[in-house]
Amino acid sequence: AGLAGLAALGMTTRASAAESDTHAPARFPKDFVWGTATSSYQIEGAVNEDGRGKSIWDVFSHTPGKIEDGTTGDRANEHYHRYKEDVGLIKALGVKAYRFSIAWPRVFPDGTGQPNPQGLDFYNRLVDELLANGIEPYATLYHWDLPQTLQDRVGGWQSSDTSKAFADYAAYVAARLTDRVKTIFTVNEVGRFVNFGYGWAIDAPGLKLPTAQLNQARHHVALAHGLAVQAIRASGRAGTKVGAAENIAACVPAIATAENIRAAEIATRELNAGFLGVVLEGKYTDGFLAYAGADAPKFTTDELKIIGTPNDFVGLNIYAPQFYVTASDRAPGFHVLPFPTSFPRMNSEWLRIGPEVIYWAPRIAAKIWNIDTIYISENGASSEDKLAADGQVYDLDRIMFLRNYLTQMQRAVAEGVPIRGYFLWSLMDNFEWIFGYGKRFGLYRVDFETQARVPKLSAAFYRDVVARNAIGV
Ligand code: NOJ
Repeated sequence: AGLAGLAALGMTTRASAAESDTHAPARFPKDFVWGTATSSYQIEGAVNEDGRGKSIWDVFSHTPGKIEDGTTGDRANEHYHRYKEDVGLIKALGVKAYRFSIAWPRVFPDGTGQPNPQGLDFYNRLVDELLANGIEPYATLYHWDLPQTLQDRVGGWQSSDTSKAFADYAAYVAARLTDRVKTIFTVNEVGRFVNFGYGWAIDAPGLKLPTAQLNQARHHVALAHGLAVQAIRASGRAGTKVGAAENIAACVPAIATAENIRAAEIATRELNAGFLGVVLEGKYTDGFLAYAGADAPKFTTDELKIIGTPNDFVGLNIYAPQFYVTASDRAPGFHVLPFPTSFPRMNSEWLRIGPEVIYWAPRIAAKIWNIDTIYISENGASSEDKLAADGQVYDLDRIMFLRNYLTQMQRAVAEGVPIRGYFLWSLMDNFEWIFGYGKRFGLYRVDFETQARVPKLSAAFYRDVVARNAIGV
């Protein structure tokens, strides 16, 4: 109703006309997939219902001092019970696609062994509701909520037993959902959850492993991905599309000269060798192995073959530009420039604003790995999002961020970079991991006391882009 209210005020079409800063409307191809995204632990709540097992994030968020505002995902957005209302919110945006994640410990409470059909049923209901509303489901299998039992028993990703358990879980889900879910993302943001969870004790499970073990854990995730791709192809419907969603270490040429672009390509390949590289090339780069030295992961050629199983697409989560680079005569061929402290950011320390990253990262990835289908599996921003006196949220900074990123994405698409779809993070404010509920990324504002959802002005902005399949008028 609120979204319709904004439209009635003329805020959709007229606002974008006035704000148009492009010379001509930046149009997208007809079949471009517009979507929005969430993940299980960040929105579901209902952590003790219908046989769900504990995940490492349940345990971690309940450990004092780990979450900035002392909150947990126990209740979150109560999406487990409010999913129908939330599907209505997606529909009101006019998008035709929704990326959500499945909580592994709902489906296998102990990670492996006995499945819990009641847990999977929730996703059956969600998928049916989405389809009934003309929204295509895109499912992610692992968005960080590892079953705690696997962490306790084998050290989680420290063991290849977890890779095998993940493949079994993938097969079980694929057999039951791929009649309706045509696209599956295996793992989400390996570059984040391995380092932050197993290397730097920031995220769950809160470990600080030495580099060799950290590299080994990442290798086990790559192996899990490869095994899952095979398991989904074996157990799911023919034609199911599979890939990962990675927060690619995004390297941008500081000034777009031919030499710097080449340097950004080299940097992108080397700095992503530990996951995207090994998945897409079937081997670790020489540079990666030389740099890791004695800390390099141990692997067999058989494992590399599994990891390198061809994917159907690559999902890229694009937020901040991580590295601005220039060319260098010396190995490895690039310089990483330091960031000035005055570099602009959104309402999260790490979220530097560099719209051109969503142009360069897909363009460079497509070139160095010869990718023919890319999804921007996440992009979005946190803002202050205060309620105005009239009860609305005028998140002009998020609109500025999105307009600029989308314009750069259109530039890539227009040049032939194979980006087929875009999932805006996030549908609604939610549990932002170690920041708790303090960092808001939603198109809808959520009052976590009352669970009321209010569309922000950015929801009207996005709906307008989706409806016209273009930015600017
Ligand atoms: C990427 C993660 O996949 C998601 O869980 C998180 O909320 C967003 N980035 C924003 O930080």
